[in-house]
Amino acid sequence: MRILVVFYSHSGRTRQVAAEIARRCGADMEEVLDARPSAGACAALRSIWDSLTGAVPPIETPSRDPADYDLVILGTPAWAWRVASPMRSYVMGNVLRFRRVAFFCTQAGSGKGPVFSELRRLCHQTPVSTLFVTETSLAEPTQQEPFQNFTKRLMSA
Ligand SMILES: Cc1cc2nc3c(=O)[nH]c(=O)nc-3n(C[C@H](O)[C@H](O)[C@H](O)COP(=O)(O)O)c2cc1C
Repeated sequence: MRILVVFYSHSGRTRQVAAEIARRCGADMEEVLDARPSAGACAALRSIWDSLTGAVPPIETPSRDPADYDLVILGTPAWAWRVASPMRSYVMGNVLRFRRVAFFCTQAGSGKGPVFSELRRLCHQTPVSTLFVTETSLAEPTQQEPFQNFTKRLMSA
């Protein structure tokens, strides 16, 4: 089974989780890049505004075609309880090219919120597996079970 892990990461946590999932599944990786320059407090405020308004910002052209893969795993940080806007742009631009999908989300710990329901709606399909990762669980090496369950469900899908 060919698997592609597609992720957006502003400060590196989602990238770290994406790399671990890709390592466990033998998957290729694609990082979604915001095409707008961003830094500092203005970028953070814009991110929150984007999330609250459901914005679809410009992103760099992806290098891989998701249609070449049996499964696309989409990873995003939670921004104001929603999908990070560059990932929203990626999904909306590629939705017709996904065969099957799985989702993961990193967040500080505010609770699950509507991230996965938004991704489900954008993808028009139910994910084969989902994974929420909080900052605490990422820092704690004994919290490996959710990772194992997530990848086990992927491989048996
Ligand atoms: C603009 C913005 C909004 C955020 N909103 C939430 C939130 O609603 N709930 C939460 O638990 N964490 C929230 N966070 C924290 C991030 O989701 C969390 O730190 C995530 O792991 C960052 O991923 P990254 O390092 O890949 O960018 C927010 C962070 C930013 C920058």
